[in-house]
Amino acid sequence: METLIPIINRLQEVFLTLGAEIIQLPQIVVVGSQSSGKSSVLESLVGRDFLPRGSGIVTRRPLVLQLVNVPPLEERRKQDNGNKCLSFKGLSYLPNCFIHLLNLCHPEDIETQVQEMILSYISNPNSLILCVSPANSDLATSDALKLAREVDPDGRRTLLVVSKLDLMDAGTDALEVLLGRVIPVRLGIIGVVNRSQHDLNTQKSLDDSCKDEQVFLQRHYPSLASRCGSRYLARTLSRLLMHHIRDCLPELKTRVTVLTAQYQSRLNSYGQPVEDHSATLLQIVTKFATDYCNTIEGTARHIQTSELCGGARICY
Ligand code: GDP
Ligand code: NA
Ligand code: MG
Repeated sequence: METLIPIINRLQEVFLTLGAEIIQLPQIVVVGSQSSGKSSVLESLVGRDFLPRGSGIVTRRPLVLQLVNVPPLEERRKQDNGNKCLSFKGLSYLPNCFIHLLNLCHPEDIETQVQEMILSYISNPNSLILCVSPANSDLATSDALKLAREVDPDGRRTLLVVSKLDLMDAGTDALEVLLGRVIPVRLGIIGVVNRSQHDLNTQKSLDDSCKDEQVFLQRHYPSLASRCGSRYLARTLSRLLMHHIRDCLPELKTRVTVLTAQYQSRLNSYGQPVEDHSATLLQIVTKFATDYCNTIEGTARHIQTSELCGGARICY
């Protein structure tokens, strides 16, 4: 697994350039309505402040997180047995910053575009779907779960994070939801408390937030505290990802082999390598230019459908 994850990361980088739709890489896609807490959840997974958060559409673009083999400081301190653990690090935005403006001219399209983009990611049968739904709104109307159901009706690859446990009405709690008695979700339901807007404004650290989260869980959900919270979520995701990569591996290997053969034969169609032969050179350049234009066109289409996102995605 330790050698595998860098390979998967490398594959992902290659296919982000080539067009991700030609291969179905194992990945986790984070889905949730605006301000449900996706960015906050991602930050607590990574253990670092790196995303803008807030009410309204803030993040606005797809982003990619990769799983790498560097234990977070905190884990390292606790683990003196030398065991390695996996954490989420390394972030790259998809290179498509400019389309944002273009989309703002067509605000009525945004919702459809975002929805289509999310569907395109989660309909990949090799993606796990991490739904983020706030505890202070009705789970039955959760946009994230609704989308997940469309592509994963029996919930085999769906995991639910219930955010904002601290914002529920006095006298109500999420116990029934967290126990899976309201909506069953196969891969599990994990409650979290992220930093509030006030916490962000006063620059509360992730460390303090994590401690307070534990205190909150112990007080309000003592029977579930060990199976809730950001740290438990990170461990669960790591475990799910590793098993999932292993399950996807045989098929992935076949697919990469097939693609390699395809590209090799395309490469061969450009002719034998020839020294200083201007006619052949012209032929090669012409063919290259045609292919290049097609690729650019394809990329432009891809970018248009994948910008302006209410849903971030994690891959590894
Ligand atoms: P996103 O739009 O889904 O990425 O949501 P953000 O992570 O940007 O969060 C939106 C707002 O909700 C921010 O002001 C966060 O501080 C706040 N928020 C997110 N999660 C929680 C939570 O568990 N508790 C509280 N009190 N606020 C939260
Ligand atoms: Na937001
Ligand atoms: Mg966000």
